[in-house]
Amino acid sequence: MKNIAVYPGTFDPITYGHVDIIQRATKLFDQVVVAIAASPKKQPTFSLEERVALTTQVLKSHANVSVIGFETLLTDFVKKQNANIILRGLRAVTDFDYEVQLTGMYRRLAPEIESLFLMPSEKYTYISSSYVREIASLGGDVSEFVPEAVAKALKNKLRK
Ligand code: COA
Repeated sequence: MKNIAVYPGTFDPITYGHVDIIQRATKLFDQVVVAIAASPKKQPTFSLEERVALTTQVLKSHANVSVIGFETLLTDFVKKQNANIILRGLRAVTDFDYEVQLTGMYRRLAPEIESLFLMPSEKYTYISSSYVREIASLGGDVSEFVPEAVAKALKNKLRK
């Protein structure tokens, strides 16, 4: 049986912090499914289709990674992928409360699915997609935080 982990998030946009977690995960699991949530409540800057396309482009060199968008409950998506692991990144203690709550809800919805946590390299612990969007929208350089394709897409999207 294949060991499949689902790494969910909004990825608006994907950053080097996310890539770091995905690279670590590819060494631990046979298959990593990067699951891009529609997340309408977050009113994402990039559409779901744009986020899937951009993330796919960034991760194209990883053979055991696939990128799929979803608009359902995450637990239903995980079952549909025949996976039983939800992977989340923990950057700092400030992520912990939120993750405890989220994991508790996933567990109530689907007790057979286990949540696992990985920590990114410490140089990425302060990155977040919203800071990256803010810096880019104010004309700042985000090349230290996101892959080149993402920096370009941000420039195009946020250019007045
Ligand atoms: N490196 C850099 N940034 C990271 C990161 C890492 N390793 N890990 C998380 N982040 C950042 C993200 O960029 C994001 O930043 P932002 O809020 O500034 O945009 C923030 O941390 C957290 O976002 P993310 O990891 O994308 O998760 P999320 O909170 O948007 O995603 C879902 C939560 C999508 C997994 C959750 O809402 C979900 O499961 N949705 C599906 C519907 C569902 O089942 N709902 C019921 C939930 S009980």
